[in-house]
Amino acid sequence: MPLSEDRINYLDHAATTPVRPEVLEKMLPYFTEKFGNPSSLYSIAGEARYGVDEARELVAAALGSRSNEIVFTGGGSESNNLAIKGLAALRTPASGHIVTTAIEHHAVIHPVEQLEKLGYEATYVGVDSTGRVDPDKFAAAIRPDTFLASVMLVNNEVGTIQDVAEISRKAKAASEKLGGKIFVHTDAVQGAGKVSLNVDELGVDLMSLSGHKIYGPKGTGILYVRRGVVLEPLIAGGGQERQRRSGTENVASIVGIGEALTLAEAERVASRDHFHALSTRLIEGIAETIPESSFNGNGNQTSRVPEIANFSFPGVEGEPILLGLDFKGIAASSGSACSSASLEPSHVLLAMGVSSELAVGSVRISLGRETTEEDIDDVLQALKSVLDQLATFPSAQG
Ligand SMILES: Cc1ncc(COP(=O)(O)O)c(C=O)c1O
Repeated sequence: MPLSEDRINYLDHAATTPVRPEVLEKMLPYFTEKFGNPSSLYSIAGEARYGVDEARELVAAALGSRSNEIVFTGGGSESNNLAIKGLAALRTPASGHIVTTAIEHHAVIHPVEQLEKLGYEATYVGVDSTGRVDPDKFAAAIRPDTFLASVMLVNNEVGTIQDVAEISRKAKAASEKLGGKIFVHTDAVQGAGKVSLNVDELGVDLMSLSGHKIYGPKGTGILYVRRGVVLEPLIAGGGQERQRRSGTENVASIVGIGEALTLAEAERVASRDHFHALSTRLIEGIAETIPESSFNGNGNQTSRVPEIANFSFPGVEGEPILLGLDFKGIAASSGSACSSASLEPSHVLLAMGVSSELAVGSVRISLGRETTEEDIDDVLQALKSVLDQLATFPSAQG
């Protein structure tokens, strides 16, 4: 779509997405006429309860699970925290080892670090230069006291897909051989609508999902909990969600995430070729127009999602590039987080062996349902112009 004054070229769909009209439409009645508390007994509450039950069925269908294995939470971060801390709380720190990876989202890494402070132990398995975890290396980190293996399905910065099924199979076999028992968790927040979420095929016991990455509402998430897996709840109270997450249900958002996931799953396979074509245009275009750039991620189409692409530009930092793009009406994101005066390079890129200098000059472009070929051409042109400007006026980098 050509740029107009009232339309930004939004290329940050891995950060968040707008709520789809179909999703909003399903949600709206639950704010007003269907406002009852699903736990109450009168008929208006029954409508709300029906909305929650129906959403649970829809989510279960998308995951190939039973509906009573679905727990609605307050987002992807909460789902990850519930999976990790909920399992840990039923074990003593002395018998508690976790294996995860060096490229997880902070919503996995930080809860694991919190547990480490309490005496639990953790191993962060490294990745290769494409961001891929070697299943054998992962399995080799399993110890007799390992209770949890957590590996993300799709990386949020570079889009690399992990072979979760193989990692799970090998990690479980390693644990069994050592006389242990592990549960496998996957943070699938960036996988929804992009790769299959079938929990049996993936061999996972726990899976985290988030509403706002799939054109659903923010502050809403899902934790799939395989039958028989016991978790200590993070939030105790009225015992909602089968005692696993207390608090009156966020009915409208639960209805929204159920609809959003259903639509994402229904469109997933048919949208692959379209996204791969756009992604190829972007990656080849950047290599051509900015030859000094480098692509961070996996070049193999079956090992990455086309919606997310990450690039480094030597000699510049991400922030001024983003500001320059913003000035031209384009929203993208940087791999570095600016904290006080220092630029912290992305832990994901560092784990992939990208130098700190290149990592701070990285930009993530993430495509969405509305992205067109013209939007790709627009960002190619804008990037070239912003980088030329920064090279001419290095002081603009601040
Ligand atoms: C891979 C991954 N996990 C977890 C989260 C956190 O999800 P939420 O924003 O719903 O808490 C995100 C969001 O950026 C993510 O990309």
